[in-house]
This record gives sequence, C-alpha cells and structure tokens, in this order.
Amino acid sequence: MSRTLDSDRSPGAPNDRVAAAQAQPNIALIKYWGKRDVALNLPVVGSLSITLDTLWTRTEVRFSDALDADSIVLNGKSDPKQLKRTSACLDLLRARAGIRTRAAVVSTNNFPTGAGLASSASGFAAMVLAGDAALGLNLTPAEQSVLARRCSGSAARSIFGGYVEWAHGSRADGEDSVATPLLPADAWPLSVAVAITSTAEKAIGSTEGMNRTADTSPYQDAWIDSQEADLAEARAAIAERDFERLADISEHSCLKMHALALAAKPGLLYWNAATVAAMHVVRSLRAQGVPVFFTIDAGPQLKAVCLPSAASRVAAALREVPGVLNVVETGLGGPAHLIPTAAAAAA
Ligand code: PMV
Repeated sequence: MSRTLDSDRSPGAPNDRVAAAQAQPNIALIKYWGKRDVALNLPVVGSLSITLDTLWTRTEVRFSDALDADSIVLNGKSDPKQLKRTSACLDLLRARAGIRTRAAVVSTNNFPTGAGLASSASGFAAMVLAGDAALGLNLTPAEQSVLARRCSGSAARSIFGGYVEWAHGSRADGEDSVATPLLPADAWPLSVAVAITSTAEKAIGSTEGMNRTADTSPYQDAWIDSQEADLAEARAAIAERDFERLADISEHSCLKMHALALAAKPGLLYWNAATVAAMHVVRSLRAQGVPVFFTIDAGPQLKAVCLPSAASRVAAALREVPGVLNVVETGLGGPAHLIPTAAAAAA
C-alpha cells in the first residue's frame, strides 16, 4: 500500500506519522439492525449496501510524540463528544502497531453529521485507512473492514465501493464479520437523491435504538429469521441488474426494519412528516413507471435510488415536497482511499 506522507506541508513535528484518507458513506438496501455482540460491534444479521460518490469524509490522522492526549476536530471545531469513539478506534490501530503514541484527528464531512446520512460509516472508514497508512500497518482491505466495523458497524462497508455485503459471521471473536465487494459501481450505475428533511442530530443513536429493539420489540426473531432470504433476493437482483427486483426487496427491508423499531417500547420513530410525504411521492413516481425506490436509515432523510435516466425527474419531484430542505444528488462511488494530507487539511 502506498503511504501518504506529506509532513512538509502540514504543521507538526518532524517525526510525526501522518496520513489522510477519504471515504464515502454507504446506504444499506438490506438493512443492518441489531448487535449480537455490542462490544465487538457484531451484527445479528448480514446487510447489503451501495457506496456513494459525491458525499465524503476526509480525515487526517497524525500520531505525534509531542501529544499528551488524542484530539478530534470535526468540521473545523474541536468535538469532545466524539473523542471517546475516536480514541477507541485509535486504540485499535495503536494495538496493531504496538505503540501508545497519541494522535490528532482532523475530519471534515461535506454533508450533515449525525442525521441518518452515515457520517460514522465514512468517518471511521477514513480514520482506519489514514491510521493504517500513518503507522505503516499495511492492512488488507478485509482487515481494514474488520477494524472499521469495531469502530462503527456500517463503516465496515464503506471500505469498499459499489455494491457491498457485510456478513454477520459466526465466530465469537468477530473476525469473520467482514464486508466484501459484490460488484463495482460502474458495473451497474445507479443514482441516489438524498432528500434532507432535517439537519438536527438524531435523538436516539443507532446502538441505543438497536439494543432497545432487541430487548423489547416482539418482531426481533422474525427480523433475524427472514434476513437471509432478503439478502439472497438482493444479490440475485444485482447479479441480473434487475432494477424492479432490487426495488421491491430494498423497500421491503427498509419498511421491515422500521416496523421492527416502531414496535420497540417506547417505539422508535425516525421519520418526520416530510419523510412520509417523500415516501408517497416516490411510490407515485414508481406507479407512473419511473424506475425509483426509497430507503431510509435511522434518521429522517429519504434516499431515493433510481436508474440514472430518472435522476433529474426524481430530484425535481423531491424538491417539491413540503419540508424537504435540500436534495443532494449522487451516483455510486469507489472504495475508501488515501489522499494527500494537504487535501484533507483544505477540506
Ligand atoms: O453502523 P451504525 O451504528 O451507524 O448503524 C447503521 C444502521 C442503519 O443505518 C439503520 C442500517 C444500515 O445497515 O446501515
């Protein structure tokens, strides 16, 4: 793996070990919800996602003997709330390298953080790649995926581009719970329109939501039991480039995940009025023959996935929905990758 060292451009001590990486968020079509091991971040079900392209996190990681403590600057501001998870991720990298050196992390998202747009997926995938390169660990993509999973479950998938499956695995140590690429982005290009209906941080994070669901939702067993069939259906749809088949199974998985979470006590309601209005708009477009479907994660944003020929019509329709603040259009993107540290600093 090439190592990006650009220390003459970034401030810092001469012996600092620094690298930067970019990763894009991914959106699950067959959803992950529920952990079989909270500490190791092991899922109860496998999941399948698409990696996006124009939304990104750029992260620089600088290990320096001059530092007494880890730090994280997110979107230009020191962010103590993110420090615990950041340090936990850096600890995994330090353990691999056999060092105790502290690190300064500077990370920028070009999209709202913490609002159901998988900023933790792209954020931790970028951090793992940058940390790996800075420390010269030479991890394989599969090893990077396992480390990223420990930091944030869905980050395991953002290591790869295009269509990606993350296995739940069966080993207690989780080493087989790893993502693998199914198909590169350009083998079946799709477009995604993200309808942003709120930029507020979500009230209930996914770990808390998943644990509450597992403890109280009467549908948890049915969710687990039906996941393998959904994954097989989505895999087949992707292999055949069958959009209608992928649309049916993806909406089913999304609605099933939300039904599961809605049935928790107290129920988890991640949608707002604009989310629901946008769902109806997507359904009505599809009824008119437009190749589009929706998916929604643990937040109020709706992601409309469509064939590229329908992208401008879908985005225009979503912009008309009352309460939709903004529509971000993107295609499918490639894997997480190293970038010059100057590019991360300028982000
Ligand atoms: O990895 P987390 O903790 O951000 O959880 C992601 C959960 C969903 O986005 C709702 C589903 C998924 O598979 O990404």
